[in-house]
Amino acid sequence: MTKVPGSVGLPILGDKSIDFYRDPIRFTLKHIENTNSRVFCARFLNTPTVFVGCNSTLKELLTDGVRHTDMGYKAFMEHIFGQNILFTDGDMAAGLRQSLSQLFTPETVKTYQQRVERIVNECLHEVESSEYICLYTFMKRICTQICLSLFLDLDFHQASDTANSIVALTTTHWHGIISVPLSIKLPGSGGSTYRKALDAKEELLKIIIHKKEQNDSAGSFSHKVQQCPHGNEDIFVNNHLLLFTSALVPKALSSILTSFFIEISGDHRDLQSSVLEDSILMESLLLEAQRMYPPFLGGRRLATEDFNLNGYKVHKGHALVYLTYAAHRDPAVFDNPEQFDPHRWTGRNSQDKDKIHCFGGGPRGCIGQNLVWQIIQTVIVGLLTKYSVTLKEGQDLTHKWLPVSRPKNEILVKFVRKTEQQIDTDGS
Ligand code: HEM
Repeated sequence: MTKVPGSVGLPILGDKSIDFYRDPIRFTLKHIENTNSRVFCARFLNTPTVFVGCNSTLKELLTDGVRHTDMGYKAFMEHIFGQNILFTDGDMAAGLRQSLSQLFTPETVKTYQQRVERIVNECLHEVESSEYICLYTFMKRICTQICLSLFLDLDFHQASDTANSIVALTTTHWHGIISVPLSIKLPGSGGSTYRKALDAKEELLKIIIHKKEQNDSAGSFSHKVQQCPHGNEDIFVNNHLLLFTSALVPKALSSILTSFFIEISGDHRDLQSSVLEDSILMESLLLEAQRMYPPFLGGRRLATEDFNLNGYKVHKGHALVYLTYAAHRDPAVFDNPEQFDPHRWTGRNSQDKDKIHCFGGGPRGCIGQNLVWQIIQTVIVGLLTKYSVTLKEGQDLTHKWLPVSRPKNEILVKFVRKTEQQIDTDGS
């Protein structure tokens, strides 16, 4: 076993958290260059931490690594979300996963489709102007409506005041999640933001409990959660509804949709007319959007014992940060990794879909993926069937990566309604 290259430095003095948060990509590239390794160590959040940006090592961490690691989110996020699956390990986590997975099987997800389609159709009129609109803002609005409607049975048209105040609460809650004090204070992160977020969490839980009592029809999501094996436990039901209705999910969905639409309305505009009828092209574009712009830069684990990670010695008590961003740009797997090239997925990388880790992987991978793909495809098909979309020229497309990746600036696009003849031709 090799020692992980790099240095974990002295407590507090050697901490690199501020460097990381200031510019996580620069931090990553600098350490990869200095250590000449895509697996390196540094002191982060004042804990010796192994950073994993090598694709094969990341995969091993998420699969075999579960035997030697715990999830690493509890200390920072449990308070703001309450107890949920993300903060559990071992048998408890396996039991919760089995229970919650029932909500997201392909068959169950089909039962949500009518509602998703209705919301997408209701939102389409918003793009119907000759003006440029901010792509991310639009995607965020549509995905928020879908999630709150699915998980809380909220109707944005009939109860717009209630809906808007719930959206405001999820925003305040979100600001607390990202201000999570960690043990270091970052510029701009204040205690009062965190306090307000905890209050917002309590308000959201009250609404969730109220909605749960109101919506006991068999088709409602909250009813389905209550039918899960753990569904008689209030904490299980309420806290998972809180997790799903938090701003995290719509932000991640909007991130993928925004990356897809930037490419298809800009550099790859020529693919717009064929993408709806060519499912392989659609899949390639979505894989490439995920590869280059994963919504989450990475994730965290804690070593529960000394272990061998793909040849590297990892010590008990050390943290591990897996860097999805870096693993997706690992030149050992992807030629010209900085280039957006959907055609790689039908060529050299046709067997490499399992090397994309936007949704984590292994026994703790995302359980919401069936739903995610259903929502994403419905939004794309809904928009591209009726509209052609053009990216405004000359915009700065720089991406930001924390807390959820998206363009740094407002990116403007224009949707133009197709004629009936165009709709028939593109759809045939
Ligand atoms: C684009 C949207 C989404 C992305 C990018 C995403 C990504 C992820 C990732 C990376 C993980 C693994 C975290 C880790 O191992 O460190 C995860 C776990 C999880 N996801 Fe998602 N997710 C998305 C949407 C959803 C949705 C819609 C749901 C359900 C409503 C969901 C439910 C979960 C749950 C419950 C876990 C925890 C699984 C466990 O702890 O065993 N996710 N997700």
